[in-house]
Amino acid sequence: GLPSADLPRLRDLTHDQVFTQELLPSASQLALSDTATAELRSYFTDLVHQRRARPGDDPVSRWIATWDAMEPDRDKADEGVYFLALFVLLAALETTANMLSTTVLLLVEHPEWWEKLAADPGLVPGFVEEALRYDAPTHVISRVAAADCLLDGVEIRKDEMVHLMVGAAHRDPARHSDPDRFDPLRTPGHLAFSGGIHYCLGAPLARMEAHVLLRQLVGRLPRLALAHPPSWAPRVAFRRLLNLDVTLA
Ligand code: HEM
Repeated sequence: GLPSADLPRLRDLTHDQVFTQELLPSASQLALSDTATAELRSYFTDLVHQRRARPGDDPVSRWIATWDAMEPDRDKADEGVYFLALFVLLAALETTANMLSTTVLLLVEHPEWWEKLAADPGLVPGFVEEALRYDAPTHVISRVAAADCLLDGVEIRKDEMVHLMVGAAHRDPARHSDPDRFDPLRTPGHLAFSGGIHYCLGAPLARMEAHVLLRQLVGRLPRLALAHPPSWAPRVAFRRLLNLDVTLA
């Protein structure tokens, strides 16, 4: 329910905000992230106040009603909705935009799949799952140890942070045979949406978006070819294609 005129600005702010989740962010990246966080905070705080004053038929208004039923303190309820709205924007936008771009790049790089998907749209989900394994949008998942423990022979003490490197897990030859080969017919299995209690809430939506995009692309267009090799943002945690210029093949 956000005004569509705001979307380009929100997208730019999201690109900057997620630097805070990088593995080794530079001082200038953290400064960009701080500025973006401050602007997003004021944007979403205003949004919650506006929706409280004039509720509509949108998720933020419904979240306010839900929180009000649980929390008598209006300021606390507003803060809860603010965090939720901001988190959903950050969790959904950067990851999904990147997945859609990467999936199209992999299709363009494997042109034989253009005709295969057009002839049999039933192959689309396998293609999307393999794209999520081959080049996951998020490469770092972090956890804080609740207690001292031993993880595969490594001692981890309570309150220490552990980073799971998703890209390395996805290319583990003990788990995936010939892991550097892009093969949409392989048995699916990946950690792109994490696992356990924090498993991605938006996974079905993200998958649906990718399925629709691929089906429409191969159904409507002739093959696409790369105009020139794309460039990637210099990041580890959140992959991001900076451009994807294509021509009709
Ligand atoms: C390809 C797209 C996406 C990817 C790769 C992705 C990835 C992830 C990952 C790895 C986590 C877990 C983080 C952890 O375990 O600490 C997560 C959690 C989450 N994601 Fe996504 N996500 C995507 C799209 C979306 C979308 C579209 C939404 C919302 C509409 C969304 C909402 C969330 C939420 C709310 C959580 C937190 C769940 C929890 O902690 O209980 N995600 N996502």
